Amino acid sequence: MATKMDFDSFLAVVRSRRSCRAFKPDPIPEGYVEKIIETARWAMSGANGQPWEFIIVKDQAMKDRIAELFIGNRERVYNIERTRVEDLRMPAYRDRPDTRPALQTAPVVIVIVGDRRTVQASVLYSNFVFGEGGPGAVYQKNMANATHLLQLGAAALGLGAQWCSVNSSWEDSLKRLLDVPEELQIPTLIPVGYPDGKPAPPFRRKLKEVLHYGKYDRSRYRSGEEIFEFIKELRRRTREAYARGI
Ligand SMILES: Cc1cc2nc3c(=O)[nH]c(=O)nc-3n(C[C@H](O)[C@H](O)[C@H](O)COP(=O)(O)O)c2cc1C
Repeated sequence: MATKMDFDSFLAVVRSRRSCRAFKPDPIPEGYVEKIIETARWAMSGANGQPWEFIIVKDQAMKDRIAELFIGNRERVYNIERTRVEDLRMPAYRDRPDTRPALQTAPVVIVIVGDRRTVQASVLYSNFVFGEGGPGAVYQKNMANATHLLQLGAAALGLGAQWCSVNSSWEDSLKRLLDVPEELQIPTLIPVGYPDGKPAPPFRRKLKEVLHYGKYDRSRYRSGEEIFEFIKELRRRTREAYARGI
């Protein structure tokens, strides 16, 4: 059973985890990647469906080809993102990104593979009729749980990791490249390695801003204007996190 001492160490790991977007080329010690994946294996999933599998990629030629697909997508994202008001644009896309992606420079890329069919383990009414964000939402939540735990596992070993989202414009090409069967998905890629430089300062809303006791305190409900201002402030405060690339 966990003790308070465990909680303090646990929180320290949780708080130390930062998205890392610049890596040293130094290799990761033998067995570390497997330890990280072992963490993810223990994630919660609706009805214990466990949709996840993982591919470890270390080969530089393969990482180069993955990065090529990523760069093609990055260009498409930039072309859309630049249509936004500059203050609201994702900081990584204020200017055309031209850095070598972490997918290419990190010593290891963990490919997260998901099997959507496992959602059939969950109750039919909630997952296919109503509830929980609509059909497929449980699968997405399950995958996110495993991906987050994996990131915490990396942090506990003193490693940095990025959460690199894959969207449908390059997922099929990626699946062909990695010989992933058609029925499966690749929602995310995780470059892992030792951080090159200090991570950007963390930013989280304060505990008192997100916490309600007993029932929702409507006096703290944020208007659309306040959300707009929040995102502007968020952009300002998180710009540094993307300064070294995406
Ligand atoms: C669903 C999801 C998608 C994300 N996609 C990306 C991504 O494509 N690229 C990236 O660099 N970070 C991505 N992130 C990481 C977030 O940007 C990051 O967690 C957030 O800015 C907070 O910063 P921190 O991780 O350093 O605490 C993603 C995170 C989540 C949960």
